[in-house]
Amino acid sequence: MNAALQKCQKIWTDVQIATLEPQVNAPYGLLSQYSLGVKHGKIEFITPSQQLDLTGFQGEIINGQGKTLTPGLIDSHTHLIYAGQRSAEFTQRLQGLTYEEIARNGGGILSTVTATRAVAEEELVEQGRPRIEALINEGVTTLEIKSGYGLTLKDELKMLRAAKQLAAGYPLRLRTTLLAAHAIPPEYQNSPDAYIELICKEMIPQVAAEGLADAVDIFCEKIAFSAAQSEQIFSAAKDAGLGIKVHTEQLSNSHGAELAASYSAWSVDHLEYLDEAGIIALQKSGTVATLLPGAFYFLGETKKPPVELLRQYQVPIALASDLNPGSCPLASLRLMLNMGCVLFGLTPEEALSGVTRNGAAALGIKKTTGTLSVGKAADMLLWDIADPAQLAYQFGENSLQQRIFAGEITHG
Ligand code: NIG
Ligand code: FE
Repeated sequence: MNAALQKCQKIWTDVQIATLEPQVNAPYGLLSQYSLGVKHGKIEFITPSQQLDLTGFQGEIINGQGKTLTPGLIDSHTHLIYAGQRSAEFTQRLQGLTYEEIARNGGGILSTVTATRAVAEEELVEQGRPRIEALINEGVTTLEIKSGYGLTLKDELKMLRAAKQLAAGYPLRLRTTLLAAHAIPPEYQNSPDAYIELICKEMIPQVAAEGLADAVDIFCEKIAFSAAQSEQIFSAAKDAGLGIKVHTEQLSNSHGAELAASYSAWSVDHLEYLDEAGIIALQKSGTVATLLPGAFYFLGETKKPPVELLRQYQVPIALASDLNPGSCPLASLRLMLNMGCVLFGLTPEEALSGVTRNGAAALGIKKTTGTLSVGKAADMLLWDIADPAQLAYQFGENSLQQRIFAGEITHG
């Protein structure tokens, strides 16, 4: 028995591994009849089962019985921390009002801001619990949570702390994002530039100093902030050493993607109205295009993101839930795999790459997670399926057999 194997704590034998590694030259980076060993939370080896000699191995052996192992799912865009709910707005939309009209009437994001400001950090943690558990139970091992319903220094910090406190209770990797520029707060309706200045001069530096966020995001859209205001935020985020993300081209083409790409953004998100110039900019900067089919579906949108052009320019595509009370109260990344294929025309392989490898890139952590390869985190899911496409094809019947986080079996 070789030394690498001897040092492992656990070995999964006889698994079909969907590595999602581009250098494995097969769909899904698939390796059949392989074994995988884990040491100190990381993948120590991946080897054909027939080459494995387990004589004398002291650790735990898990017989995979030919089942499929994939990377843990990564939900790279959520607004999971908030108070209250917006079913009244849903009812209004069904009667004919648009998302934009509701926002312009002071509802929408701002109604969740009122509810979120009114509660303490502990309450935000408790309200987020069923949502985070829903994602974890279906296989999410890395999750991003944004602020953006506080819109004051105190309330944005409260949201980020609540996100950290909530996630600390679960076997999960958390990335947090400051989205103070989500909407113009009521106090600044007549002076949005003063609010941008507050974000740049006070919020971003403090959040960075306290290590409360990994990235900064902004809603660049005609009902929110302009490209010029977005640029100030990107520049402040860059100075603070934080990653850059943007909600853009959701309701119109604001050219936020192109601008974000010029700041080497990690991701640009939504993108229904993205044009070819924007896509070329993304290709140059290596920025991930994050598609959010749940929001598209829930708002009854008809303009689809330019998937074919993204493919043509080989822009990495991530897929995320956008879980939030207004445009996507759907706490399921599995559902997004199906929607990504049915609504946007992604292939099941593109969809799965979007919630693994490209999700990791959208969060600036592609070196440590997102695919199954030696040295990466042993965040893995064992599924009772024969074809990885089943993850996008089926919904509702639970084929998840084991959820493994940092080498430990947390479910199953
Ligand atoms: O990603 N686009 C802006 N923000 C959210 C919606 C937030 C809300 O309506 O509460 C989104 O769709
Ligand atoms: Fe969002």
